[in-house]
Amino acid sequence: MKALVLAGGSGTRLRPITHTSAKQLVPVANKPVLFYGLESIAAAGITEVGMVVGDTQAEIEAAVGDGAAFGLQVTYLRQEAPLGLAHAVLIARDYLGDDDFVMYLGDNFIVGGITDIVRGFDSAARIMLTQVSDPRQFGVAELDADGRVVGLEEKPVVPKSDLALVGVYLFTSAIHEAVAELKPSWRGELEITDAIQWLIDRGRHVEASRITGYWKDTGNVDDMLEVNRLVLESLEPSHDVDAEIIGRVVIDPSAVVERSRIVGPVIIGPGARITDSYIGPFTSVGADCVVDRSEIEYSILLPRASIHGVGRIEASLIGHDVEVTPAPNTPRAHRLVLGDHSKVQISS
Ligand code: TTP
Repeated sequence: MKALVLAGGSGTRLRPITHTSAKQLVPVANKPVLFYGLESIAAAGITEVGMVVGDTQAEIEAAVGDGAAFGLQVTYLRQEAPLGLAHAVLIARDYLGDDDFVMYLGDNFIVGGITDIVRGFDSAARIMLTQVSDPRQFGVAELDADGRVVGLEEKPVVPKSDLALVGVYLFTSAIHEAVAELKPSWRGELEITDAIQWLIDRGRHVEASRITGYWKDTGNVDDMLEVNRLVLESLEPSHDVDAEIIGRVVIDPSAVVERSRIVGPVIIGPGARITDSYIGPFTSVGADCVVDRSEIEYSILLPRASIHGVGRIEASLIGHDVEVTPAPNTPRAHRLVLGDHSKVQISS
């Protein structure tokens, strides 16, 4: 079995972070979300990975390389535009040949890995489902009384169930025939749900299993922070600094923490400097960040962000090289240099 990992896309929901970097590389507990997926593919005994990439190919390649660090052989497959999940299968046709494959969405996070998911696969396709509170944002499956999949719909306005498709799919080469027949949807994309529906309509056996473990699509900031919280909760504490430290806290030996209080779970990356500050639960501080005279909780700071003397920051995703500083007191006004699509909440 091969793996097809989707690491292209446009990442509109994570703008402005995704204006300059790939969403699959946003760190969860200071490690790119994509790496957790690659580790679980390797753990399932798969070695050949086709990595679908778009405009951020150079960045993904710089991070993943040839895959050897994960025990994988990665082949990059360039998708000229994010034309849909089924389009990614279409461009991977030659790479996949007639092999079975697991398709893994590179920004998805599955606790417990995929080893059980890929075991004993002997139908035309296998999809994973999980209950969600707002199915309108997902691909949604309709099952009959015997639990068989009868219909699939991408982001339906009126969902027929609350069972969303998880971002891991198993396919035989039968999917290629389906994908070749597809027409773009109203979104202008080749939808994988339409391809699977094509198989169902022709009487092919499509299995659906429920996943009981935790699954998140980290496409938006709230989900990203939530996955970060979950991963930080399982950290093995390790630190050797002279500061007030409570709970699960990992501090890289090259980081500096002075006159500060750190309440875990928290991870602080290499070269970071925390001075006269409070870092609260569920926070990841990336490499070479600076936090000075500030308080941060339930947040992710990407490498080299710096926060100086600004009081308290919560539930925030702060990009690479961002600077947050106080404004002079008078006149009382906010002075902002924000990228397109930034979201800022200012207390008045
Ligand atoms: P999505 O999150 O569905 O799409 P997106 O990346 O365009 O994001 P947004 O909705 O915020 O604009 O994509 C799921 C994964 O698949 C993600 O890792 C990106 C990847 N992908 C591709 O590689 N090619 C594609 O054509 C699409 C649509 C997604």
